[in-house]
Amino acid sequence: MKSILLLSALCARASAFSIPDGHPLVHWRPAGPGDANHGLLPHDGKNITEEQTANALKLSINLNEDVAKSQFQEALATNPTPGATTFSLDDLSRHNIIEHDASLSRQDHYFGDDQNFNPVIFDQTRSHWKGLFINVHEAALARKARVETSNATNPEFTLSKSALTLTYGESAVYIVTFGDRSAGTVRKSWVEYFFEFERLPTELGWTKHEDEITSSDLNSMAQRVIDATESSDEEKHSLLRRRDFHAGHTARRHHH
Ligand SMILES: *[C@@H]1O[C@H](CO)[C@@H](O)[C@H](O)[C@H]1NC(C)=O
Ligand SMILES: *[C@@H]1O[C@H](CO)[C@@H](O)[C@H](O)[C@H]1NC(C)=O
Repeated sequence: MKSILLLSALCARASAFSIPDGHPLVHWRPAGPGDANHGLLPHDGKNITEEQTANALKLSINLNEDVAKSQFQEALATNPTPGATTFSLDDLSRHNIIEHDASLSRQDHYFGDDQNFNPVIFDQTRSHWKGLFINVHEAALARKARVETSNATNPEFTLSKSALTLTYGESAVYIVTFGDRSAGTVRKSWVEYFFEFERLPTELGWTKHEDEITSSDLNSMAQRVIDATESSDEEKHSLLRRRDFHAGHTARRHHH
């Protein structure tokens, strides 16, 4: 998986960064009195450089520098100015570049506001998260349900191949960033907080990993989400086959 765009936005505050969901941080807060600007990102969210991106992601979530730089390249592609060397948070929200349909927490562009947290959409997502911790299987089900719902209800549903890849990456990102990279589990309340408030769940007790997040962490978690999605498809198909068989059986009995 070449392109996992985990960040969609970054934040000037070390305590916050991005929506792993194709969505920029829309409520960009200007510096207030007493606000520490860590010298990372411009407070107006504009003209963000590669170095600022890498620093912000290192400091906020301990993301490997090369991964951060490739994220920056993805973000750069959203800046419509030819030859640009910086991007602005506003650029990230252009539909179908990074922002995409079937988000876990925002409604599709077709239905209107695709930027702000949408509790109805997110309720569908979190209905698949049954316990205190989300596992890979539940992450896969939640992602798949959103894709299927959007596909079935949005007449302009679009998910390019790269956006589809992105959706797996986004599920991987919240597990890896907030959870246990080997177990593939993550505390649900931290993930909910992150999506809802667009802030790192520091005040709930989360801290960044001591070992940096690498591309192999992200790729292997994304692959686990893909595998879990495929095995849930197979389960569904085999259930359907069994149901067909029973239906056929009942029908035959009925005829006798
Ligand atoms: C900074 O970003 C704004 C919009 O995002 C753009 O209009 C402006 O040209 C940029 N400035 C530089 C120096 O790149
Ligand atoms: C959307 O639905 C169509 C028709 O059922 C299907 O062929 C397509 O693969 C679906 N797209 C995605 C991304 O699941």
